[in-house]
Amino acid sequence: MTTSTEIAPATGKLGVLTPGMGAVATTFISGVLAARKGYADPIGSLSQMAHIRLGKRTEGRNPLIKDFVPLASLDDLEFGGWDPYSDDAYAAAMKAGVLDSRHIEGVGDELRAVRPMPAVFSSRWVKNLDGVDQVKDGEGRTHMDMAEALMEDIDSFRSDKKTERLVAVWCGSTEAYEAPSEVHADLSSFEKGLKESHPAITPSQIYAYACLKMGVPFANGAPNLTVDIPSMVELASQEGVPIAGKDFKTGQTLVKTMIAPGLKSRMLGIRGWFSTNILGNRDGEVLDDPESFRSKEVSKLGVLEHILQPDVYPSLYGDIYHKVRINYYPPKGDDKEGWDNIDIFGWLGYPMQIKVDFLCKDSILAAPIVLDLALFMDLAARAGKSGIQEWLSFYFKSPQVAEALYPENDLFIQHTKLKNNLRHMMGEDLITHLGTEYYDES
Ligand SMILES: NC(=O)c1ccc[n+]([C@@H]2O[C@H](COP(=O)([O-])OP(=O)(O)OC[C@H]3O[C@@H](n4cnc5c(N)ncnc54)[C@H](O)[C@@H]3O)[C@@H](O)[C@H]2O)c1
Repeated sequence: MTTSTEIAPATGKLGVLTPGMGAVATTFISGVLAARKGYADPIGSLSQMAHIRLGKRTEGRNPLIKDFVPLASLDDLEFGGWDPYSDDAYAAAMKAGVLDSRHIEGVGDELRAVRPMPAVFSSRWVKNLDGVDQVKDGEGRTHMDMAEALMEDIDSFRSDKKTERLVAVWCGSTEAYEAPSEVHADLSSFEKGLKESHPAITPSQIYAYACLKMGVPFANGAPNLTVDIPSMVELASQEGVPIAGKDFKTGQTLVKTMIAPGLKSRMLGIRGWFSTNILGNRDGEVLDDPESFRSKEVSKLGVLEHILQPDVYPSLYGDIYHKVRINYYPPKGDDKEGWDNIDIFGWLGYPMQIKVDFLCKDSILAAPIVLDLALFMDLAARAGKSGIQEWLSFYFKSPQVAEALYPENDLFIQHTKLKNNLRHMMGEDLITHLGTEYYDES
């Protein structure tokens, strides 16, 4: 047994702040409220539903993760956030159309009490959103003024809701793609850029800066870089705050990171992988803009390369044609349809095909990720961890890693990594699957 990490107890309330209170955020909040009232199980959430094996199989120790590590309880969560639309969480959930009204009505009063604060927003970064009605006034105010306004919001939320701790999970729209540049290279350039309202600083980076300065852990659910830039990594380490990102792993990429490791484990070759989606929610509308789509495309395309290692296996994966398309098709609403055509080859190069048609509900898959990230980021903070939380790669399409490392995208390796980190934190032996005295985890 190794020594356990000292972890401060999860006393008092934990505030979960979501910049962006659209489909994902309101599905998350509604689901937690429903679980709290016993209407529904938090399905899809590891922190709530999964067990973790400890020690040797002969020991028969297999507690729920939530009974093993000291996580905040669902009863202690308070919700808040920002959005450029002033709809409260009830109205936003109704508009998002993910949940049936019977699920929303059951927690209607609580949802109506969650009202987004005015957003730091710019249509330069998110096009295709019309009629926004509460944006922090940009007139004559620098990016730094905006960051300070967000810090005031955080302070007011903390005192109004009497929270002991806060975490933030970006659930805002995908911003237009912007490669990191000089202004993102270190903290002093970034702060200078904030004061001068540098045009390459995005709203999500202003939120992240404000949160980290306030000691609030920040996880990014969208593909925009946000905390995945050197200046934010520096700030997170300076303030001793955990960060994680990017882009919730749901839908097609979730399935892709299940299938690809399986094909690779059997040394089956892949010639092409064509993925196309049709979706009709607001996220789809935003992604209809080529610049926002570019952020998504970059995040989705990297996945196969790191799983398949074409440089190590050139004859199997050196010449893959990987294409990803997203098509906005309003009649689909939040019911996304993801088609995959996978051209594979086996013994003597004989070709075969796999076709997948995943009729999924994106926000239903994303909501438990928001919950787990909020609880695990809070745990990380209480355990004194700061900087990039690579053990949470399990939840991301494009996991953020330290500069010299490549991201781990294989869902099963990510899963083992997450559980081993929890074991390590609690002073339990890591499970390596070595030797006959160990058996495979469920
Ligand atoms: N649904 C999924 O499965 C999934 C998976 C991976 C990533 N994501 C990402 O999560 C994010 C949220 O997805 P969604 O389906 O809830 O989208 P959504 O369009 O329903 O909600 C996004 C909300 O963010 C708000 N917003 C935009 N700019 C903002 C800003 N600067 N500050 C605060 N709020 C802002 C919008 O007004 C909107 O209400 C998107 O970036 C999406 O790409 C979603």
